[in-house]
Amino acid sequence: MTDEELIGLAARVRQNAYAPYSDFAVGAAVFCASGQVYTGCNIENSAFGAGICAERVAVYKAISNGEREFLKLAVISDREEFCYPCGICRQVLFEFSPDCVVLCCRNEKEYKKSRAYELLPDGFRL
Ligand code: THU
Repeated sequence: MTDEELIGLAARVRQNAYAPYSDFAVGAAVFCASGQVYTGCNIENSAFGAGICAERVAVYKAISNGEREFLKLAVISDREEFCYPCGICRQVLFEFSPDCVVLCCRNEKEYKKSRAYELLPDGFRL
């Protein structure tokens, strides 16, 4: 799975984002150690706290299918700005795969690459 392929999948699922409140559509795709890819988009709600980020939808879909190890995750919004995971999504990724490569995309060609542990220095663990 190349970076470009994973980013392409994230950009495609972004079309399904339900973001009428922020008008900020996000797509994510996570490549698992099993070889499977899971995608997700952000899903908002009129009760704001019920909304969820694209990254967590992708990761939770993966976990609920038995995945536990994530090798690479791409995230992309519909704005020409680098899209970085929020703090909660960083913590979720760190729980399972601190070494996961995270592709924070500006568009389908430009992205910044880092590891989950680098995005969450001194990340919390029980
Ligand atoms: N959002 C994501 O889905 N992922 C990110 O990396 C940043 C934020 C969503 C949450 C909310 O639906 C909207 O973007 C604005 O915060």
